[in-house]
Amino acid sequence: MDMRERVERLTEERQRIALGGGAEKLEKRRASGRLTARERLDFLFDSGSFTELDALVRHRSTDFGLDRAEAPADGVITGFGTVNGRQVYAYAQDFTVLGGSLGEMHANKICKVMDLAAKAGVPFIGINDSGGARIQEGVAGLNGYGKIFFRNTSYSGVIPQISAIMGPCAGGAVYSPALTDFVFMVDGTSHMFITGPEVIKTVTGEDVSFEQLGGAVTHNQTSGVAHFIAVSDQAALEQIKRLLSFLPSNNLDDPPLLPANDPPNRREERLLDVVPSDPNKPYDVRDVILAVVDGGDFLEAQERWATNMVVGFARMEGRPVGIIANQPRVLAGCIDINSSDKAARFIRFCDAFGLPVISFVDTPGYLPGTAQEHGGIIRHGAKLLYAYSEATVPKLTVILRKAYGGAYLAMCSQSLGADLSYAWPTAEIAVMGPEGAANIVFKREIEKAEDPVATRKSLIQDYREKFATPFVAASLGLVEGVIDPRETREVLCRALRSLAGKRESRPAKRHGNFPI
Ligand code: HXC
Repeated sequence: MDMRERVERLTEERQRIALGGGAEKLEKRRASGRLTARERLDFLFDSGSFTELDALVRHRSTDFGLDRAEAPADGVITGFGTVNGRQVYAYAQDFTVLGGSLGEMHANKICKVMDLAAKAGVPFIGINDSGGARIQEGVAGLNGYGKIFFRNTSYSGVIPQISAIMGPCAGGAVYSPALTDFVFMVDGTSHMFITGPEVIKTVTGEDVSFEQLGGAVTHNQTSGVAHFIAVSDQAALEQIKRLLSFLPSNNLDDPPLLPANDPPNRREERLLDVVPSDPNKPYDVRDVILAVVDGGDFLEAQERWATNMVVGFARMEGRPVGIIANQPRVLAGCIDINSSDKAARFIRFCDAFGLPVISFVDTPGYLPGTAQEHGGIIRHGAKLLYAYSEATVPKLTVILRKAYGGAYLAMCSQSLGADLSYAWPTAEIAVMGPEGAANIVFKREIEKAEDPVATRKSLIQDYREKFATPFVAASLGLVEGVIDPRETREVLCRALRSLAGKRESRPAKRHGNFPI
């Protein structure tokens, strides 16, 4: 055979591999509203930039008819390319080939691109669409998952790791996405669960649909497993590109800087009216965030879960930052178990990848109740303290209104290492709210008074004027300034500039013991 014939044969082989499980199965996948694995990679990567690796890899199992099974690329396409000009490694499981199931060689291919991504210091994206461990390969598939989990963990905090769920993701397979930084799900066509509806029915008698059990809405709204939900594969891949635009390629790189096209000294008149004068009236803290950040551009993560805390990415003078904010519109901005978990993990991500964190505070405290206490609010709430204390990136805090008790401390107080903190004139920084405080410290006075109701009211007012202000904290230097809300953007931009070269270290250790 001469070179031409050999090349022709190679071309034919490539074409065969590109067809995955065959035209019929590909069409079935499309008919289900999904893209095929190759279409997903084409959509994700800049046109023509994707370079496939290991297309010729084959499994070496012979049991249960696998010796006769055609498995092009062994059911997973791996490689690298550019996304908006930046290098990224990725894999996409091909459901048309043995259900995208993961056997020994399929796992080896994934591990290879994970290792390459870590060596190159570039983000890693996994597109999951698989029936799980390849049943015919037995423990070899399980071992493959173990190797992937090990790498997810090793490279956590080294390179951003992103998971897209675009089909089934069941059993232990869900743990790779769970170990990555962000999970994207497509509404109606993606599912994640440890045990499926049939097993649940057999074991507990409970009837539950795939969608209810582990659909995109469930995981974005109820469990908090997923961070983003999209209406289609294309929309999810667009969201991933947007997320990447805020992230550095690795923990040693600077986050991507864009030209600063929004004046840092932009004053926002509307910030005078965001916080209602009645301290018990809610408002949407996102109005504050949108008014302050570059161009009102804010990418919120976990938008539907633990909505009493808002977290997400934005830019200030072109530099990416992480934003954490209490949301007074939900549970009055109280901190609870889920919002502690949500904020703590987000803060740790920002810290790992050098993104400064800005915290907007308006919280009356931790949510009271037996459900919270028995659910472990003590250990969950501790995560927030731990994450803020541990973070060495620039940390800025703006207290908008309430900052009471432990929640004042937990929301990046100066004592937890805020580099610079500010308060709006509406801030109330104290051990507890005026009503609660009056009931305790003025109890006798109120009881003895001729008109207890009027006395209580007047003592509450005294307390409010004296302590429920930012001025005691400012007089002790616990906030660096009380600022005009309209100046918030300028104050934060200046502060971030001053801290751009911040270096802070902690005692050397193997690692801390994060509360769980
Ligand atoms: C081998 C598999 C497979 C698997 C699916 N297929 N899952 N082959 N190993 N795990 C094959 C099917 O035999 C079928 O082959 C093709 O993929 C498409 O599957 P269908 O069942 O026809 O598709 P659909 O009706 O869409 O159902 C998809 C599914 C179902 C819900 C994912 O296939 C399913 O329940 N699969 C088993 C899931 C599972 O229990 N996996 C093991 C989980 S445990 P043909 O030749 O007919 O096209 C696990 C442990 C990991 O993953 C532990 C890590 C620690």
